[in-house]
Amino acid sequence: MSWSRESLIEAARDAAKRAYAPYSDFHVGAALGFADGSVVTGANVENASYGLTLCAETVAVGKALSEDWRGRLEAVAVIGGKAGAVGSGDPVTPCGRCRQILNEVAALGDSDPTIWCVGADQTLELTLSELLPRAFGPGALE
Ligand code: THU
Repeated sequence: MSWSRESLIEAARDAAKRAYAPYSDFHVGAALGFADGSVVTGANVENASYGLTLCAETVAVGKALSEDWRGRLEAVAVIGGKAGAVGSGDPVTPCGRCRQILNEVAALGDSDPTIWCVGADQTLELTLSELLPRAFGPGALE
């Protein structure tokens, strides 16, 4: 494992710089840390049709799976805030849809990843199963 809690948070913070968020001005970065040391990042991508917005976590998962990544997801860092103030507010927790999206990758690698939700005064350390108990996943379709 070549990433650490701090480096994964920094990767998410860096990814947030590339957010496309002209409508909300809320810039989010996410970093996925895999067991072999790989890190895949994403930033939110908004759309003039607001409801089509892609969250940072979803973009990161899309990048990972579309690049054929099937490793064991160990941890995720999420950070966000207004432009120039990323990480300066309350911890950003993944939205409900993103929890489900993350669950798919976790299930592929049979893990329950740690989710670091970064804020100014505290970084919440949660597990995906705490954020999404009794998740529906690929196993349900067997
Ligand atoms: N957002 C994320 O990227 N991830 C989340 O988990 C919560 C929300 C984005 C979507 C939208 O571009 C902006 O934050 C404001 O909702």
